[in-house]
Amino acid sequence: MKAEIRNSLYEQAKEWILEAGARIRKQMRDPLVISIKSNPQDLVTTVDEETERFLAGKIRELYPDHHLISEEGFGDNLNSMKGTVWLIDPIDGTTNFIHQRRNFAISAGIYHDGIGEIGLIYDVMGDCLYSAKKGEGAFKNEERLPQLREGAMLERSVLAMNNKWLIPNPVVQVEKMEELIRTVRATRTYGSAALEFAYVAEGIVDGYMTIQLSPWDIAAGIIIVNEVGGVTTNVFGEHVDILKKNSILVCNKKIHGRIVNDFILEGKK
Ligand code: IPD
Ligand code: CA
Ligand code: CA
Ligand code: CA
Repeated sequence: MKAEIRNSLYEQAKEWILEAGARIRKQMRDPLVISIKSNPQDLVTTVDEETERFLAGKIRELYPDHHLISEEGFGDNLNSMKGTVWLIDPIDGTTNFIHQRRNFAISAGIYHDGIGEIGLIYDVMGDCLYSAKKGEGAFKNEERLPQLREGAMLERSVLAMNNKWLIPNPVVQVEKMEELIRTVRATRTYGSAALEFAYVAEGIVDGYMTIQLSPWDIAAGIIIVNEVGGVTTNVFGEHVDILKKNSILVCNKKIHGRIVNDFILEGKK
């Protein structure tokens, strides 16, 4: 994608996302209308849907040849990343949105022919925008994020991960994950994959790993973390197929190999 196209797309996407955030803050003044999707741990509100409808409408009107992959049903059914594809999660961290009214984000990644060009993660209540354009670095609002240092050893690292790793799962033996948790300095669970990617990019956690994330959870975060020199793979250290569900490991270079080799592959099912 040409730099000038990328720049104008970035400015447009940023404007819409900030506007969508302002709409969410306004809609939150009314009682939330909550529905259960597949099970009581999987919720959606009319605000999630309205936000996606708003962004999808804007994209389809101004960029009718672009495609959209998104969570709440306004997207396309794509099996290829050809052309320009937006991957949008209107509210990442719906459980936080419902229970805490904070710690959720709008996430939008824009890819062209499969290459990540623009990433935007907007912490709506913190009014904090993490962003990146391919080859131009990553930002937290106006502030450029430094390249990730090589990183501390695993024993001095803080890892964002949730306790699903401690429930029997299809990826890795629970015992190996207990060992990992005993090895690191601390673990944190924030409940929004997009924000957890952003925190890795910001360097306030050393890594983030989660089972089975969807394309819209990771699309923006991958671009932002890559721009600060982080590693973004699946938990086996392999390339991420953005069209599928992936169990993700994003972190600095130093701890990546150790987590993959000593914990995931050693305990692989
Ligand atoms: C979820 C959040 C959560 C992650 C889940 C996601 P949603 O997204 O990112 O942190 O653990 O796997 O599905 O449903 O709130 O958009
Ligand atoms: Ca959801
Ligand atoms: Ca999500
Ligand atoms: Ca969502």
